[in-house]
Amino acid sequence: MTEPAKTEPTRILPATDAAIAEAAGLLRAGQLVAFPTETVYGLGGDATEGRAVAAIFAAKGRPSFNPLISHLPNVARARELALFTPLAEKLAAAFWPGPLTMVLKRRPDCPVSDLACAGLDTIALRVPAHPVARRLLEAVGRPVVAPSANPSGRVSPTSAQHVAEGLTGKLALVLDGGPCAIGLESTVVDATGTRPVLLRPGGVTLEALEDAAGPVITPERDPDAPTSPGQLASHYAPALPVRLNAAGVNPDEALLAFGPPLPGAAVTLNLSEAGNLEEAAANLFAMLRALDQPGLAGIAVMTLPESGLGRAINDRLRRASAPR
Ligand code: TXA
Ligand code: MG
Repeated sequence: MTEPAKTEPTRILPATDAAIAEAAGLLRAGQLVAFPTETVYGLGGDATEGRAVAAIFAAKGRPSFNPLISHLPNVARARELALFTPLAEKLAAAFWPGPLTMVLKRRPDCPVSDLACAGLDTIALRVPAHPVARRLLEAVGRPVVAPSANPSGRVSPTSAQHVAEGLTGKLALVLDGGPCAIGLESTVVDATGTRPVLLRPGGVTLEALEDAAGPVITPERDPDAPTSPGQLASHYAPALPVRLNAAGVNPDEALLAFGPPLPGAAVTLNLSEAGNLEEAAANLFAMLRALDQPGLAGIAVMTLPESGLGRAINDRLRRASAPR
């Protein structure tokens, strides 16, 4: 595949019909295209083409080959790639299209490259809800792998500008579909058995999963439960150190507030003054980016509840604050 020269600015196009058709052609030709989903922007490549998948790892600078999610326009296309258990059918009916990723056994004739699945006999599948993503996936006619469109270890992108800032020169095109409505990655669930196993908290809450499919196995409840491969402790990291559960704030610190803000910070952004977790999720990555300013000592973060989307937000914040 031919890579654009590193000095070329990345093309960003509003997601018109013509731009989506061009993006689909680029993907079918083995190029990389970033596109909006309701969770975060994805760095897309043809899942069936090992060289395109390898180019994604190279563009992100991933330290290892973590397995990627294959994106499909509908559940029928997803069933062609993996063995759907009764649990998977139930979860698909409840949450697709939407921010849920299911890990299932690959079919023997699954055309997705082994590199995309890191050599595992399982595959992660998602049908996104964003209309631009769905139209693009329809037009490509092949599964598209798409990790978050950011350099490895950095904060995930929730706008086309974030993508261009992080990956300039490393992809053919960014489709601009505006800011992401959810702002957190999808929830990843192993649905190969009879009970769902939570591998990564995300846009679908644990409460919603349990309403749809009964008790969920999680790492907190079952210390032997697996988590997603490649869930690095230090991830989603701004350059500044991040301090959680701040009860006070220093004058040389930035404050990421939730609810009524603590006084005295150098600069404050509020995830949600009203204490709304959906609003906080949508703001999280953009605000971490905006507070990550040179000259400050760190980012202090107020406490968020460990319920609903708070679980996924706290998971990302713990990774952002982990020792590097
Ligand atoms: O919201 C999202 O999921 C975004 C958008 C672009 O769709 N994508 C995303 O991809 O977050 P990525 O590559 O950053 O995360 C993929 C997650 C990782 O935690 C990975 O370990 C897990 O899915 N995963 C993929 N294949 C797996 C498998 N076969 N078994 C277990 N976990 C798997
Ligand atoms: Mg990511």
